Amino acid sequence: MPEVVIIGSERSEAGIPAAMEILRRGGSALEAVERGLIACEDNLADHYVGTGGLPNARGIVELDASIMVGSSRAFGAVGAVKNFPNPISIARAVLEQLPQHALLVGEGAEAFADSLGFTRAELLTPEAKALWLEQLKSVNSESIEGENTKAMSGDERYRQAAIELVKKFAPHEGPWGTINIIALDRSGEIVCGVSTSGYPYKHPGRVGDSSIPGAGNYADLRYGAAACTGRGELSLRGGTARTVVENMRVGLSPEDACFEALIDARNLPDDFRAELRCLALTPDGRHGGAAGMEGSTYTLMTEHSTQPEFRPRKALL
Ligand code: GLY
Repeated sequence: MPEVVIIGSERSEAGIPAAMEILRRGGSALEAVERGLIACEDNLADHYVGTGGLPNARGIVELDASIMVGSSRAFGAVGAVKNFPNPISIARAVLEQLPQHALLVGEGAEAFADSLGFTRAELLTPEAKALWLEQLKSVNSESIEGENTKAMSGDERYRQAAIELVKKFAPHEGPWGTINIIALDRSGEIVCGVSTSGYPYKHPGRVGDSSIPGAGNYADLRYGAAACTGRGELSLRGGTARTVVENMRVGLSPEDACFEALIDARNLPDDFRAELRCLALTPDGRHGGAAGMEGSTYTLMTEHSTQPEFRPRKALL
C-alpha cells in the first residue's frame, strides 16, 4: 500500500496536519488538499491568503485558487473572486461540477459560488486594512496625481495610479504568502492545490499564476506535481510548474527540477523582479523545493510524522 505524503509552502503548516489526518484515514488527496487549504485561508494571521489577505490597490480583497488532479490532469480554478472566504472550495466545485470549464473569474465565479450556496463574507480584516492604509500613506501622491497624469482620462489616471502603487509598495523582497499543498494518497493519486490573495495592492482584476495550469500549479501522475509561490508574473511567463514536471519527466530529482525551472524563470527580463519559489512531489513520494534565497523551507508530513517538518529548499543565491 503506498505511503501517504504531503508537502506545502511556507505557512502551510496551518493546514497540513488536518490534511495528513485525512490521508492517514484513507481519504482522498483531493479532500486532503482542499481541507488543508481551507485551514490556511481561514488563518487570519496570514495576510497572503483567504480572509485577512492583503487587498488590491482599491482596498478590495480578490482571491485566486486552483486544484489539479494528477491522474486525469483535470483542473478547476477561480480568479479575482471577491467576498468568498474559501476560493479553493469554489475551485474544487469548478473541477467536479463544471467539467466543461476549468477556470471562472470575477463576477461569474461569484455567481457560480452563490448558485452552490457558498456563504459570502467580508474578507478585509481590520488588521489587513490597517496595513493597506499604512502603505497608502507611504506612497508619494505626487507621482500619481502629478503633471504627467493631468491630461489623462479618469480611467487612464486610475490605471496609472494602480501601476505606481504596485511599483512603490508591493514588497519585492517578500515575504510572499501564496500557499501550495501537494498530497499523495493511499490509492496513489497525487493532487496539487494553490490559494492566494495575490500580489499585495495589485491592479484590480489582476489574476496571477495560482489560477493558471502550468504556471503556478501542475500535476501529472506519471511524473509528479509542482507548485509556485512568489512573483506569479514570472511563472506565468515561464510556465514554471509545468517546467518542473517536465524536468522530472526527463529524470531530474524534485529538488533539481525546481532549481532548473527557477533558473529558466530568473533569466526572464522583469522590472518588478521579486522572488519565485517552487516545490515538487513525485508519485513515489520523493520531494524537494527551490527558492531564490538561502534560508527558505518547505513543509513536510509523512505517514510517520507527529508534526510538520521543515525542509530546506535549494537556493539560487
Ligand atoms: N504567486 C502568487 C501570485 O503571484 O499571485
